[in-house]
Amino acid sequence: MPQHADLGLIGLAVMGRNLALNIADHGYTVAVYNRSVERTDEFLAGEGADAPIVGVPTLEELVQALVQPRVVVLMIKAGEPVDAQIDALVPLLESDDIIIDGGNSQFADTERRTAELAEVGIHFIGMGVSGGEEGARYGPSLMPGGSTEAWPHVKDIFTSIAAIAEGEACCEWVGAGGAGHYAKMVHNGIEYGDMQVIAEAYDIMSRGLGLDPPALQPIFARWNTGRLDSFLIEITADIMATLDTDGAPLLDKVLDAAGPKGTGKWTVVASMDQAAPTTLVAEAVYARIVSSLVNQRTTASGILTGPHGAIDDDIGAVVADLEDALYASKIVSYAQGFMLFEAASEEFGWDLDTGTIASLWRAGCIIRSRFLADITAAYRSNPGLSNL
Ligand code: 6PG
Repeated sequence: MPQHADLGLIGLAVMGRNLALNIADHGYTVAVYNRSVERTDEFLAGEGADAPIVGVPTLEELVQALVQPRVVVLMIKAGEPVDAQIDALVPLLESDDIIIDGGNSQFADTERRTAELAEVGIHFIGMGVSGGEEGARYGPSLMPGGSTEAWPHVKDIFTSIAAIAEGEACCEWVGAGGAGHYAKMVHNGIEYGDMQVIAEAYDIMSRGLGLDPPALQPIFARWNTGRLDSFLIEITADIMATLDTDGAPLLDKVLDAAGPKGTGKWTVVASMDQAAPTTLVAEAVYARIVSSLVNQRTTASGILTGPHGAIDDDIGAVVADLEDALYASKIVSYAQGFMLFEAASEEFGWDLDTGTIASLWRAGCIIRSRFLADITAAYRSNPGLSNL
């Protein structure tokens, strides 16, 4: 096979497929490989049919299809599968080829892989990718870090596919080693915190004020036009308005138990390591753990009836206070997250630019918000800012 693909991508689950389509939309030829060939065939017969995407059945053919230096993006499950995939790829690659891990990997693994691969002449980039399926397809927030030397070779590709905020691509080099995945980890921790404080505001309005989801929809929609303007508030309003087929609010039928994949916990562990308190993220992680104790909560709810309808203050005043409280909580949480970056930067010698990290989160990612434009502006107008 002639060497003609600009980039290889391994892993055609939802994030991999959408990232491949996004890259192909920007004029790059992508060679894709998936462990089960059926998934590659299905992708190429469906969504990938009219795009400059070629499917390859083996890793050997993937490597042969790529222009040099070869760029191979891994969009596979974090953890051991990444090491196994790297082990399978390395013997097929040559010096100066580049492997990019776009999964939610532990930053310490990325740090280790960058160093190990450098010893055999391969560049490694651990890239945080945020925005879910929609972001991957039309513009994610990208947080690359790792082998600094490799970045100029792939910068144009990733800058072109990223979300745009205030005219700038949400893709910039974060730092050496595990810095990119560290940024994604903290992003996710903050995401947990944002979701938790929204859930608490919902809970106070739902159980305390006795408002049902349809009555809460306009409140969240209005909040989304002000300083809380963000993706998570926007979709909360949408969720409030979503009805089941029987016309009842769907939310009331969803089991109130949430499991974590791990990034929130990692943020809290990292914050302990750095003695940088991310208290709001920690409470959010604990709240998820409590949520999963369904049996114990069910038993307790038969004994403790809770404050249903217990707030008899003026609804408008309580809602206004909650809006202020949410905003204050965000200030606390983001200030804590950026304190963690400062501490980690010092510890690992990453020279992180907090203003740049804030700028990457203005669009494309799950925590995108107007607030992040304010934080970016704060750091840009005062680069020496020691604390938000
Ligand atoms: C993103 C998200 C995405 C996902 C996390 C967290 O930035 O696109 O953070 O990565 O939401 O995997 O998942 P859990 O909430 O299930 O831990």
